[in-house]
Amino acid sequence: MPHMNLMSYFRNSAGVLMFFCLILYVVWTSTGDYERSSVATVTINESTFVCKENFIDTRTFLVKSPITHGTDTNETGSDNFMSTTIYFITPTYPRREQFAEIVRLGQTLMNVPNLHWIVADDTDSCNPQLDEFLNRFGMPYTHISSPMPDFYRSQKPMPRGVANRRAAINWIRQNGKKPGVMYFGDDDNTFDLRLFNEIRSTKGVSMFPVGLIGLYSVSAPIVRHGKVIGFFDSWVSQRLWPVDMAGFAVSLEYLEKSPNSTMPYKAGFEEDGFLRSIGLRMHEIEPKAKNCTEILVWHTQTKKEKPALIHIDDRNVESADSSLGPLLKTLESLGVSHTNPSSGVKAQIAKNSKAKDLTNRTV
Ligand SMILES: *[C@@H]1O[C@H](CO)[C@@H](O)[C@H](O)[C@H]1NC(C)=O
Ligand SMILES: *[C@@H]1O[C@H](CO)[C@@H](O)[C@H](O)[C@H]1NC(C)=O
Ligand SMILES: *[C@@H]1O[C@H](CO)[C@@H](O)[C@H](O)[C@H]1NC(C)=O
Repeated sequence: MPHMNLMSYFRNSAGVLMFFCLILYVVWTSTGDYERSSVATVTINESTFVCKENFIDTRTFLVKSPITHGTDTNETGSDNFMSTTIYFITPTYPRREQFAEIVRLGQTLMNVPNLHWIVADDTDSCNPQLDEFLNRFGMPYTHISSPMPDFYRSQKPMPRGVANRRAAINWIRQNGKKPGVMYFGDDDNTFDLRLFNEIRSTKGVSMFPVGLIGLYSVSAPIVRHGKVIGFFDSWVSQRLWPVDMAGFAVSLEYLEKSPNSTMPYKAGFEEDGFLRSIGLRMHEIEPKAKNCTEILVWHTQTKKEKPALIHIDDRNVESADSSLGPLLKTLESLGVSHTNPSSGVKAQIAKNSKAKDLTNRTV
């Protein structure tokens, strides 16, 4: 319509509709994303910036050992297996302990072949000091500045790390190389090097126990006959997936199947929200860490707590019918938790967002 003036364009009702659609589209794209909650719709103003991308691995000391390359030559030892890149996402934020945590985690990750570390900092601008540290470790990395939108800073509890993880997921969607596996590893966790062999073979979504979580001192899937049948986590709260952020890994192939999936700004429900958004089904979960009987990642934090005392029917502890008995025995031997048939925090299994008591019955 080259000679039509603006008003006559507006008199055309289809034009009006198109105009408002355009306005909506502009608002939509300029504000990033919309978050739907049951109460209201909030406009999220995310402003993320990629500070530095380094795809070059300058490590020369990596040795091929069972710890870094796995022990099973059929699968984990093959070149095919090692060709899978682990995208390790770490949200961080400025505080007294920040660089101590970065050094500790970086020196763990230095030992892991074919790993790309994505460090997303909760800051408005790129911290050159962080870049200097990341560069020294030698593995490929991406440094992102991804401040939490102001709206959420005043919330209690604050959804810390969400803007960072969302920015990292977006980066992976655009830059991730397949085969690849995405994993969320916080800077205050401790990672057993054997974990990386486990997550590298993730085909869709894998899960495994995380030590030092909640009132049980552990959060773990419960496995029977090689399948996940429920979860052992002291805080269920209607979560369909009551797991810790460090307790699962997702392949890039699986992530790609749900291009709109992301993590909600909802403190405590980030894992559940993300796993719901990728449309995960129970039967798809690949249990790792010897059918979820071992702890390969710990939510250490920089603090001290007493071992958990778990009130649970002894039959669950003595039986090897599910992974729970062997897991509780492992935790006992490591001094992380104790079980008692009559006292302590009540044990329960979570399934389909509901908790079932285990103090007087078996899994
Ligand atoms: C986004 O910006 C608008 C306008 O400044 C503000 O009203 C809204 O609360 C902001 N949203 C968030 C999540 O910060
Ligand atoms: C896990 O359990 C399944 C079914 O019992 C078994 O076939 C498999 O070998 C176990 N995996 C490991 C690593 O122990
Ligand atoms: C993702 O979002 C876009 C834009 O809103 C929509 O067109 C598309 O259908 C969505 N894809 C899926 C798989 O839900």
